[in-house]
Amino acid sequence: MPTHALFPTLVYVAPLKPQSGQSLNRRLLRECVHLREDDEAGQRWSAKNYPGGFTSYNSASRMHELSPTFAELERNVDRHVKKFARELALDLDGRELTMTDCWVNIMPRQVVHSLHLHPLSTISGTYYVQTPRLSSGLKFEDPRLDRFMAAPPRLANAKPERRPWFVVPAQLGNVVLFESWLRHEVPPNPVDAERISVSFNYNWF
Ligand SMILES: [Fe+2]
Repeated sequence: MPTHALFPTLVYVAPLKPQSGQSLNRRLLRECVHLREDDEAGQRWSAKNYPGGFTSYNSASRMHELSPTFAELERNVDRHVKKFARELALDLDGRELTMTDCWVNIMPRQVVHSLHLHPLSTISGTYYVQTPRLSSGLKFEDPRLDRFMAAPPRLANAKPERRPWFVVPAQLGNVVLFESWLRHEVPPNPVDAERISVSFNYNWF
């Protein structure tokens, strides 16, 4: 076909560690659950803004500076962010992409994280700490959706890169990265078990 795929939107998905990351994951899981018990400001904020769930987004939002376990996660994610930046052909001009925020999300059944993007950041992402079978994935929206005007819908069997939405399954031990302007959401968790993730932002310094 004489067509070009221009302006692709890249999403990066890979296991955090080449070998087993079970030890780190076990420690992260323990700390996520303890944080929910201890972080009263986070409990209050979540009750208002994250009904039924817990997030430390507005309270303990720099976990990589508070906990050696999360700092170890940061070191591991750094490698993936470097790879992703190379794949995006970002000219960083000798400056570094640095983790600025890192927070915990716990989603019991029916908890949802509605459509959003991550302002004031360059690259954002998530690491999956606990992913019950059939729990929600991470749903990305075509960033051109508001310009589609008279465009017909896409065929149900269209290739993933032709569809207006794409869901990356939440898989234990995986890290997912995307450019922070890309809108995404977590649909309601349909299962009776908690989906636990750690999200983060990187900025360019
Ligand atoms: Fe997000």
